[in-house]
Amino acid sequence: MYDDIEQIWISKDDLNKRIKELATQLDEEYKDKNPLMICILKGAVLFFTDLIREMEIPLAIDFMSISSYGGGTRSSGEVKMIKDLDTTIEGRDIIIVEDIMDSGYTLQYLRRMLLGRNPKSVKICCLLDKPSRREVDLQADYKGFEIENQFVVGYGLDYNQKYRNLPEIGILKPSVYCGEE
Ligand code: IMP
Ligand code: MG
Repeated sequence: MYDDIEQIWISKDDLNKRIKELATQLDEEYKDKNPLMICILKGAVLFFTDLIREMEIPLAIDFMSISSYGGGTRSSGEVKMIKDLDTTIEGRDIIIVEDIMDSGYTLQYLRRMLLGRNPKSVKICCLLDKPSRREVDLQADYKGFEIENQFVVGYGLDYNQKYRNLPEIGILKPSVYCGEE
């Protein structure tokens, strides 16, 4: 796998350190709120499991699977629901945990859909943010790192379903996806 990686962008140590900081912040802000943390499959799964392990407050978890990419490196703007939540969220404090915010279409769709179910609050926690790519007016409430307009893989993030099991975040060699537009 490492043959396809041009450069490691965020090391395992840096990920761990930042995730601990986010967990501390969420612990403080959600003390006594018993939040429902929603993992957006599949990309957020590594971030999610590390984040909740660092949190010390009572919380609940649920999973939702959506897809916004047919494959490749560009967002289609279309979001497809593959698996819905098991839990009802009415009156709950919700934290959506996502891997990366790019155009913002995916999280805008999710946020609107969840708000339609009358939760008490909905906040967004994403590991990575590419603000220069944003096409909708939406910001993450909690974010790990801001990154440049570069396609990254690893730590849950994929290119055509590959590289999710890399323990750190890296930049793919352009030769791996060249030919795509
Ligand atoms: P958005 O709808 O354009 O904000 O796209 C969000 C989704 O696109 C994320 O959940 C990822 O699955 C995927 N994505 C965006 N940028 C990258 C990247 O650099 N690497 C891997 N997946 C990405
Ligand atoms: Mg994703």
